[in-house]
Amino acid sequence: MYDVTFIGTGADPDNPDVSGYAMAYHHANAYDRLENCELVACADIIPENASAFANAFGIDEAETFQDYEEMLAEVDPDIVSVCVPPALHAEIVIDCARHGVPAIHCEKPMDLTWGGARRMTDTCWRRGVQLTFNHQRRFKPSWVRAREIVTSGSIGEIERVELTPPNVFDWGTHAFDYAGYVTGDRPADWVIGQIDYRDEQYWFGAHNENQAQAQWVYDNGVVGLISTGIGGSVIPAFMRIVGTDGTVDIEPEGDENGDVRWRTSEGSWKHESIEEDDWTEPIDSGIEHIVECLENGHEPELSAKNALNSTEIIFGIWESSRRRGRVDFPLEIDDNPLEAMVAAGDLPVTQKET
Ligand SMILES: NC(=O)c1ccc[n+]([C@@H]2O[C@H](COP(=O)([O-])OP(=O)(O)OC[C@H]3O[C@@H](n4cnc5c(N)ncnc54)[C@H](O)[C@@H]3O)[C@@H](O)[C@H]2O)c1
Repeated sequence: MYDVTFIGTGADPDNPDVSGYAMAYHHANAYDRLENCELVACADIIPENASAFANAFGIDEAETFQDYEEMLAEVDPDIVSVCVPPALHAEIVIDCARHGVPAIHCEKPMDLTWGGARRMTDTCWRRGVQLTFNHQRRFKPSWVRAREIVTSGSIGEIERVELTPPNVFDWGTHAFDYAGYVTGDRPADWVIGQIDYRDEQYWFGAHNENQAQAQWVYDNGVVGLISTGIGGSVIPAFMRIVGTDGTVDIEPEGDENGDVRWRTSEGSWKHESIEEDDWTEPIDSGIEHIVECLENGHEPELSAKNALNSTEIIFGIWESSRRRGRVDFPLEIDDNPLEAMVAAGDLPVTQKET
């Protein structure tokens, strides 16, 4: 039986917005379905949040903590889900790893800085800790189906992925992660990009550009293109996968969530509507997968290694904008170029009135 604990419970999962989704509730529902997991404790700097969460999942009030280090010391968990804002991900994951927690499932994006993302990955790798990220779209049924079409060879050899999320960081991390999944989970060689940031877009405590354009190349030669914000209408789908003999569109324009269409260069579009329950279903599947991997020692699809490949492209795009040129990998910076440019007054961003 695995003892599971949570850091950052959130307040209210029924009222999600970009300042709080209470993701820990969705993680907890997923572990709760598994026979080999027991929800034993939670920590939140706001005691009422921890108490409400404990109450919702039958955790003893005595096992609620304000200080997560105290929780780690007292409970000695097997699995910790980290569901705090991105600025705290690396620090908390590293503390959990140093404590000796065998498996840590952290919310996306990896961290607010590229240095943090690298350090959390290195620390867990050196200590043999299974570190995973909640890039749950690898388990979204329609996206899984799109990957099946690609890997079956129906559109020939994959040549290019085209992505249109609202931004490269908060939402983009899911799109880049899936692009990695469909293209073979390879690192990129370089990226070139430009951004526009004029209206403050502060999601989960992090700046996100209003618009970006970028190109990168994976080390297997597959090309990536991304347009965010108002540029996202460049393709009539959320994501397009282009092969030597055809195209797959994920969530084509005008179609329902869960739809995929594809065609070979000779044929007409074939539409497939994939049945999907609610948006949290892939979180359940992802958590089931990481618990299985903890048991059998296999590398999880949601591994830090895979997440690091896509995170390098994200910070690389912002770094390319800062440097006004192509960025060759490995990315040798420590900070978050967008946050740094905002702090230095290099971008004309207007703060949102609160
Ligand atoms: N995978 C997805 O689809 C998805 C969707 C929404 C949000 N997220 C991500 O989930 C993460 C958490 O976002 P959320 O919306 O659940 O946030 P939230 O605000 O709902 O919950 C975060 C909780 O962390 C607590 N907290 C802050 N600092 C802490 C500390 N030092 N120790 C303990 N608790 C602390 C806060 O009090 C709060 O209760 C973010 O990284 C966000 O990007 C992922």
